[in-house]
Amino acid sequence: MNTKKDFTKAIGSLSLDKGDILEYLENSYNEIHGFLWDEATLCTVLLSQIQRKLSIGGDVAEIGLWYGKYFFLLSLLCREGEKATGVDSFVHAADPVEHERQFRQFLQDSVSGNKHVSVLKEDSQTLTPRDLDPDNEKKIRIFSVDGDHTCAGALHDLKLAAETICQGGVIILDDYYNPTCPGVTEAYFRFDVMYREYNLRPFAYIANKLFITHDSHAQQYYDLFFTELKNNEDIPFGQQALDFHENHNNLGIPIQLSGADILIVLLNTWPQ
Ligand SMILES: C[S@@+](CC[C@H](N)C(=O)[O-])C[C@H]1O[C@@H](n2cnc3c(N)ncnc32)[C@H](O)[C@@H]1O
Repeated sequence: MNTKKDFTKAIGSLSLDKGDILEYLENSYNEIHGFLWDEATLCTVLLSQIQRKLSIGGDVAEIGLWYGKYFFLLSLLCREGEKATGVDSFVHAADPVEHERQFRQFLQDSVSGNKHVSVLKEDSQTLTPRDLDPDNEKKIRIFSVDGDHTCAGALHDLKLAAETICQGGVIILDDYYNPTCPGVTEAYFRFDVMYREYNLRPFAYIANKLFITHDSHAQQYYDLFFTELKNNEDIPFGQQALDFHENHNNLGIPIQLSGADILIVLLNTWPQ
């Protein structure tokens, strides 16, 4: 049975400068309501560490913030000169005014000195790439898509992400293959067929999130994630994931999506 302590210890074992992240995980992270599993949190920090190894720098962004649980983690992964942009329409909660107020309070509490963070109160369906990237710099290295869960909505946001990430940047699509949100899965497949020109493919499905990057980088991410799972004994689900893959390989059933090898980290429970 994995505990919160196991995950914090595993994140502590990664080689990032993670002072602020650990403080966040030990404090407000536990109070903020969110749709986020610790496996995904750990692998997002690991992703950032791998990007550092691959010299991929840049900004972070999320569409769909809710109370900010994942967005604050992304914001804390920013290094000097990098910025975090969040988008939410803040109209979906029962009390939208209170929702936004609480989000902004959590932001203040969780990301101290948050000058590098900007929050756009917008319907993402009205945004174009230039709203997120006015100078067409393509600097976003992690882009979380977790807003409108209809097929048309998620497809729009995936395209926005594809047009604004840097080479080797990663789109993290939440709720892919979640049976309660079939529109997201449909959007992924439509995106994959309609927009081959972006040269994107998945390399991991971790705790309800699909990780997608350019063809040029997918194998490297896949290999480096596996290396970390093999070498870092502190990762609580590492051995389970390795065994799962080994069993499938032994059976001659490669684990692939869109023709690409993907790492799978399963959850024991489905989101409610
Ligand atoms: C599942 S929640 C996001 C969860 C969040 N990422 C977390 O870590 O807890 C979805 C969010 O998307 C927002 N949303 C839904 N449709 C949207 C749209 N068209 N534009 C912007 N935000 C939207 C909702 O207001 C809600 O806060």
